[in-house]
Amino acid sequence: MPSLMYLLNLVWTTTASMTYARDYHTASVLANGTVLVVGGYNINSTSLSSAELYSPSTNTWITIANMTYARAFHTASVLANGNVLVVGGYNINRSSLSSAELYNPSTNTWTTTASMTYARAYHTASVLANGTVLVVGGYNTSTSLSSAELYNPSTGTWTTAASMTYARRIHTASVFADGTVFVVGGFSTSSIVSSAELYNPSTNTWTTKASMTYPRRSQTAAVLVNGNVLVVGGFNMNSSSLSSAELYNPSTNTWITIASMTYTRTFHTASVLANGKVLVVGGYSNGNVVGSVELYDPSTNTWTTTASMAYPRDYHTASVLTNGTILVIGGYNIGPLNSAELY
Ligand SMILES: *[C@@H]1O[C@H](CO)[C@@H](O)[C@H](O)[C@H]1NC(C)=O
Ligand SMILES: *[C@@H]1O[C@H](CO)[C@@H](O)[C@H](O)[C@H]1NC(C)=O
Ligand SMILES: *[C@@H]1O[C@H](CO)[C@@H](O)[C@H](O)[C@H]1NC(C)=O
Ligand SMILES: *[C@@H]1O[C@H](CO)[C@@H](O)[C@H](O)[C@H]1NC(C)=O
Ligand SMILES: *[C@@H]1O[C@H](CO)[C@@H](O)[C@H](O)[C@H]1NC(C)=O
Ligand SMILES: *[C@@H]1O[C@H](CO)[C@@H](O)[C@H](O)[C@H]1NC(C)=O
Ligand SMILES: *[C@@H]1O[C@H](CO)[C@@H](O)[C@H](O)[C@H]1NC(C)=O
Ligand SMILES: *[C@@H]1O[C@H](CO)[C@@H](O)[C@H](O)[C@H]1NC(C)=O
Repeated sequence: MPSLMYLLNLVWTTTASMTYARDYHTASVLANGTVLVVGGYNINSTSLSSAELYSPSTNTWITIANMTYARAFHTASVLANGNVLVVGGYNINRSSLSSAELYNPSTNTWTTTASMTYARAYHTASVLANGTVLVVGGYNTSTSLSSAELYNPSTGTWTTAASMTYARRIHTASVFADGTVFVVGGFSTSSIVSSAELYNPSTNTWTTKASMTYPRRSQTAAVLVNGNVLVVGGFNMNSSSLSSAELYNPSTNTWITIASMTYTRTFHTASVLANGKVLVVGGYSNGNVVGSVELYDPSTNTWTTTASMAYPRDYHTASVLTNGTILVIGGYNIGPLNSAELY
């Protein structure tokens, strides 16, 4: 029988730390399995332009060229050609950016590409089936946005897409197997919303779908292997973290409330594992930053608490590596963190 220490070691391992502590950054798994971390806030809540690469085979970080623009609350999307498109976010003065830049892994360089029509942070970016990137909603420093824009990687240009019915930021966007994009919750112009809308790329239209039971923002949404969407946690209208979980079935356009997590959480992560379970990690839990971790099993519709991380954190990222390991990077606990842990 394996010892307890052996079991614990199997769960979380602390790996090398980044050079720059950061939260509100992005992490992207490149085609060769390396992880690209860009931007975020430093200890002075100043946006960073720095970028670092994690090599899973050597468990090491290297600092690479800086982006042209410092940014936090941006998005980063891995394109079909292997480049990474970094879009929008907050600059060092907390003004939303319209600028976009491309990281090319083969030359290890950044190139500025066309800017969006609208500056935005706290938006989402989804890679569509044909390689186009759909950027939705966000915050332009004065209000939430309903607008959406499409980036064409082959021409390097943006076109305006149809706008959503509801303006929103800090929402989620999930790409379904049929190519449609499902947008849920977030903060609208004056309140937290439960509404959901579906973007159809072939008709460039939005359709309003059934609303969640609980309005929420800064939640997570994970597309399960069976195509349903698991939405968990987030803040309610009173900025109280939620433990509630809801499942959306796209074929019936219905939500069901399922068992709640043990912990309330906001600014957590949710990752679909190779075995179909969903790993929910860390977050802000009504006054505390937590290291606790829970697993959702779709086959039994139950939650199980698993081993906690070494470092409690929120505003971190969680990347599914090529071999199925989860790499949790940075985030916040009193200040920004440079630590990284493997599950
Ligand atoms: C944060 O600000 C303090 C005071 O201005 C400065 O000394 C420190 O170097 C800054 N830290 C970083 C990481 O920029
Ligand atoms: C997967 O990759 C991580 C990062 O390199 C490594 O620590 C881990 O041991 C690997 N797991 C397996 C099962 O190979
Ligand atoms: C990136 O920018 C930071 C802050 O301006 C600077 O300290 C650092 O040297 C730059 N890194 C590279 C690789 O140029
Ligand atoms: C930030 O604001 C300062 C003071 O207004 C200005 O000089 C600087 O250019 C701004 N930086 C950016 C990146 O907008
Ligand atoms: C993977 O790609 C990155 C970025 O181009 C590069 O720095 C790294 O050396 C590559 N790793 C391997 C194992 O090829
Ligand atoms: C933000 O968007 C609103 C609605 O489109 C617009 O009225 C406002 O001028 C924009 N503000 C900024 C700072 O871009
Ligand atoms: C890809 O899909 C988007 C959204 O439907 C569309 O606007 C664009 O024209 C398509 N691009 C190509 C190259 O087919
Ligand atoms: C938010 O707070 C108000 C005032 O305390 C309370 O009446 C309301 O029920 C709370 N709403 C939620 C969703 O907790």
